Amino acid sequence: MRFDVLTLFPGIFTSFLEESLLKSAIDGGLVQVSLHNIRDWADDRHGTVDDTPYGGGAGMVMKVDKVVPCVEDVQAAAPTAGRLLLMSPQGRRLDQPLVEELAREERLLLLCGRYEGFDERVVEILRPQEVSLGDFILNGGEVAAMAVIESVIRLIPGVLGDADSARYDSFSSGNRILEEPQYTRPREYRGHEVPEILLSGDHGRVDQWRAQQRVLRTRERRPDLLEKSQENTAAPAEKRSGAGENNK
Ligand code: ADE
Repeated sequence: MRFDVLTLFPGIFTSFLEESLLKSAIDGGLVQVSLHNIRDWADDRHGTVDDTPYGGGAGMVMKVDKVVPCVEDVQAAAPTAGRLLLMSPQGRRLDQPLVEELAREERLLLLCGRYEGFDERVVEILRPQEVSLGDFILNGGEVAAMAVIESVIRLIPGVLGDADSARYDSFSSGNRILEEPQYTRPREYRGHEVPEILLSGDHGRVDQWRAQQRVLRTRERRPDLLEKSQENTAAPAEKRSGAGENNK
């Protein structure tokens, strides 16, 4: 799968691309990421790609006559034009169903804005899908683009090891539920003990406990997910004590 990132700050991505899972995926030929500096499409010696807004107001707006040619040239540089995403707080919220949809594409172009955003004609002409990381304002789209890349590559066959792929199943399509708590050595730390059942060696009971914990956690923290979850009906009924709110 190929990603093209269009940004004024390609340097932000340098270490992101050179670490861990993403680096292995790139080295293994499963993923290709090309960075493009929008400023390279400026035509003055200052590298101007933004200007003051018509009608006045604070901030700078990224220029349509620089951004559109940049995107079109990048699109034309590979056999498939790809799907164009524009990172913006006004976009569709990134969630696992959208990630799964994006992972089916051969090529994604991620357009990152800075300043006050893009001249609206960028959207009118290029018709990108606008994607938001959430209801908060970042300095630019770069962090959102990294979130798209990282969440999408995890779904490309071969990128995750088998164990990690299996773990991901608990948040895959139609099964949106939080993970159970995990523990590793030591058994006791500052008076906090690992739940006895995890030391029992009884895999059946451990699996049952984990399933219960997933439901309990999700009910406590994200009840909205539980309503949609298949595991809601599949998991064993949990034992609730008293008023049932003190689950741990
Ligand atoms: N750019 C600025 N804020 C953003 C957000 N919340 N999501 C995506 N891109 C952004």
